[in-house]
Parts: sequence; C-alpha cells; structure tokens
Amino acid sequence: MRINSKILILVFLCLAYSCKREVPIISKRGLTTENAMVVSARAEASKIGRNILKQGGNAFDAMFATEMALAVTYPYAGNLGGGGFMVYRLNNGEIGALDYREKAPLAASRDMYLDSLGNVIPNKSTVGAYAVGVPGTIAGIFKAHEKFGSLPVETLLKPVIALAENGFIVTKKQHKRFAEYDSIFTVVNGKQIPFNRTVVAKSIFKNKALAETLKRIAKYGRDEFYTGETATRLVEFINQKGGIITTEDLALYEAQWREPITFKYDNLNIISMSPPSSGGLCLAQIMKMVEPYDISQYGPNSLEAMQVMVEAEKLAYADRSYFLGDPDFVNIPIDELLDDDYLKDRMKRFSFDKPIPSDSISYGTLPNYTMEISEHLQFQEYEETTHYSIVDQFGNAVSATSTLNGAYGSKLYADELGFFLNNEMDDFSSKPGVPNVYGLIGGKANAIAPQKRMLSAMTPTIVEKDNQLYMVVGTPGGSTIITSVLQTIMNVHEFNMTMQEAVDAPRFHHQWLPDQIRMEVNSFSEDLLEQLDDKGYYVNIEAPPITAKVDAILVLDDGTLEGGADHRGDDAADGF
Ligand code: GLY
Repeated sequence: MRINSKILILVFLCLAYSCKREVPIISKRGLTTENAMVVSARAEASKIGRNILKQGGNAFDAMFATEMALAVTYPYAGNLGGGGFMVYRLNNGEIGALDYREKAPLAASRDMYLDSLGNVIPNKSTVGAYAVGVPGTIAGIFKAHEKFGSLPVETLLKPVIALAENGFIVTKKQHKRFAEYDSIFTVVNGKQIPFNRTVVAKSIFKNKALAETLKRIAKYGRDEFYTGETATRLVEFINQKGGIITTEDLALYEAQWREPITFKYDNLNIISMSPPSSGGLCLAQIMKMVEPYDISQYGPNSLEAMQVMVEAEKLAYADRSYFLGDPDFVNIPIDELLDDDYLKDRMKRFSFDKPIPSDSISYGTLPNYTMEISEHLQFQEYEETTHYSIVDQFGNAVSATSTLNGAYGSKLYADELGFFLNNEMDDFSSKPGVPNVYGLIGGKANAIAPQKRMLSAMTPTIVEKDNQLYMVVGTPGGSTIITSVLQTIMNVHEFNMTMQEAVDAPRFHHQWLPDQIRMEVNSFSEDLLEQLDDKGYYVNIEAPPITAKVDAILVLDDGTLEGGADHRGDDAADGF
C-alpha cells in the first residue's frame, strides 16, 4: 500500500512537471461578458465606453467616448494634445487602420535639436513647447466617427463632459505620479499646475477648463480644435512658451486611413499598425522568424522560448532603425522586409548555444532596394501612451493606442484648455545613431522634416483565428510595446493562458541596442536569470522598468468575451 502511494505521488509529480511546460495549472479568467466589452487604463473610461455601447452605439462611437474619457481621467497619457493609431475589424471581416499620429510643424528642421557642434541638446526634444508635435487625436476620433460612427458627437461627449465637470476619484498610483512630477511641472509651466502633490488619493479631481473645451468641440465639431477658438488659444499658448506650432500647422492637420500590416502565424491572421508606426512590421518580422520553432514545447518564460524571441527581436529592431519612417516621406520596402526567405536568412545565425552579439547585427541587405527620402510632403494631405480594446455587440472590434509620448508629454499644460501637450518630436531621430528617450536608435528615414510624422512603436493589433475575430490587444510602453504585444499573443496562442493570465505574465524585452535583456523586476526565477547569464546574455535589472500595461479582449470558443486588464495600472474591463 505504502509503495503504491509512493508510486502514485511519483506519477503525479512527473505529470505536474510535464504539464508545467504546457498549460498553467490554475486558470485565472478576467471579466467575461456575452455581448460587448471595453478595456482601458481607467474604470471610468471603460464604463463610459460600455454605456455608449449599451445605448446602441458601436465600437467607433465607444472609441470616441473612451478616448476622451481617458483624456479626463488619465492625463498621464490620455489626451487631446497627442496622437495615436487605430486598427479595426468590422463584423463582416473588413479591416483597416487609422493614423492620427502627430506631425512635425512647418517650421521644423532636421537639426532643430542640435547645437552648433552638431550635438543633441539635452531635453530640447523632450520637455516644453519646442518638443510639441502637431496633435492628431481630435482629427482621429472624428475621422473614425465620420466613417463608422452611429450616435451624434454630442451624445458621445455628454458623459465625458459630466465626468470633467463633476470630477473623478484620484487613485493611489495617480497621486504618486502627481507628486513625482510636481516639481518638473512647476519648472516647465513656470507655476504650480492643478495636477500636483496636494492632489491626494481618493480626492475628487474636476477639470472645468477641459469640460469647456469639450463643450466647444461638441458644439462646433472637429474644426473647433484645428481652426476654431481652441486652435487660436492653443497656438497663442504654445508660442508664448517658446514653441513653433502655427495656426497653419493645425489647419493643415489630417488623420490618414492606412493599409494595416497583415500576416499569418499558424492558424492566426494578425492585423496590426503600419508605418509610420513600426509596431505591425516589427511584430510581423519577429513572429515570422519565431514561427518555425516549436515555442509551445519550450514553455512560457523558459530559457529556450526567450532565446528564440530575443534573437528575433534584435534582428527586427535593427531593421526598424534603418528602414522605417513616415511612409509619406520615405519608400519603405514592406514586402521585402516580410519576405519568408529574407527572414529565414536573417535568422540563420540563431543558435541555442550562445547569443548573437548586437554589435555584429546590422539591418538586412535588400539588393533591389534604394532608400529615397523626401524633405517635403509629396501630396497635399499629407511612458507615456495608453491603449484600449473594444468589441461591440455587433461584432466590430477596435484596437486603439494613443499617446503624449513621455509621461504627461512635454509636461507643458495648457491650463485654459485643460490638457497636456505631447513631446512626440523626440520620437524622430534628432541625430542618426543617438538614442531617444526609449534608447531607440534611428536613421535618416526617421529624420525630422516639416509635416512629417515621427516613427512610432505603437502596436494596436487584432488577431483572427480560423478567420474569426479572436483577440484585440495593445499596450503603452514605448519601445517595449511591440515585444509586450508579441508576448501576450504568444501566451494565449502557444501557452494556452487565459486573457488575464497572458496580460499578467512577466515580460522581457530586447531592442537590439543596447545589447541587454530588460526583464520585469522580481518576476522571473533566479534559476532562469542564471541560465541566461551562463548562455552569455546580459540581463540588466537596473534598466528602466518595462512600462507596458496591456489591455486586451479574447473571444472564447462559445463567443463569450474575456477581458485582460493589466494589474500593473488602474486598468479595468467593463461590458455586458
Ligand atoms: N511615443 C511612443 C511611440 O509612439 O512609440
């Protein structure tokens, strides 16, 4: 009997060990709903989006309201003074992408952030009015609404205006950030701004100035922001603070429909953002380089799975730094960069024995390609970010990522209008080879030019499985956006995690340069860290933390929706 129970225990342990490498034993599901869902960085924003859907609005109506509710409740990244990208999939399978990325002002020039010796002037592209790109968010939400929206803009903005007027409850995390940024806000703005260390957790924060701006937008529409009173006041404010954006810059701004990047991985179709975001293209390159390996067999956060992904990441980020920029200014060889043979060739030096040193990696060779860069727009139209995922009760899906770039953007707060302004100009390559705030190296394809859009890493993504809607996913996190979206998809598809587990799972990141793996602190076993070290990887535990906060929706087999709201922030799912 005793021997039998010992054998039983042994069998159990063996099974548990082999299972460990495939399916997580305890399954933790996020919120599940039957019809519709919104997942965003704030409960109030998700709720407003959900209520718009409940009123009969569709995913694009909910996008409008959620984006503006984030501008009220999440000034860290939610915005009127920034820009973003959106990828959609309609219930009939039609897909598309919208680019509402900021643009360089007309007076911008290639060397505007360099001194007379050609060195980058610290902080000039990151802090204050000179760092601000022409905002695109209002143009973006109106463009999406004009094509697909079903409820009037006044209806969409009504609950948002009420939220700004009546206030929202400040969270602990928010208070901590207000306190942390208080002194830089005061320096940049020359006075204390309403977001400061005295705004404590659980207090109610009202933003009357933003409510007034939103009321004017509700009344006069998109043009209020680009040519109306708001435009005039915004330009006056920016100029007073030393910026170069003019009324002409605002008047010229247009959001652009783009073809999304699409690719296959096993039985998945992935639909993601195209340039001027590098997100979709890098994600596609990495996933296609990883696809030949049996990732599920290695197990989540196993040494082998990390090795394959990290090496593919290095190669993709090396291509990113050379080939990518605004497609209206530079010819990007998208098909060549996604060619199977090209990617196979790129990955040919991969080995489980040791890493490929980053300094021996360069961008790939494309014999039939010559880069052509324009200094001017060729046609008339020309951490911190936030993401929200929406599936409506009609089966339409929206994946949108929006940003001010840094936390609170340039830290410049237009107090009479009630919003922060971006520092997106830092996403250009101020000088080839010199890293930006995310440590990303850029090349001439991403050099500054008037009216040009700066390269992004935002990766709003929609995944189909067997041609049906399967996942809506995205995240903030600067350069770590792409690798966090990658890991989330892999966690579900390869490692059978629930949506919430996939979002909660620890993250790692490599971006070619610097040659180091950034790993979430205290999230990985000592054993794994040692194994990586033994293989010759440099794991930098002092590198800036990975700031990704993934918000995603998974369609389960029976059609139920599962939300994954990132526990790292105040993120929340809501639906019905
Ligand atoms: N500002 C972050 C990004 O666009 O990638």
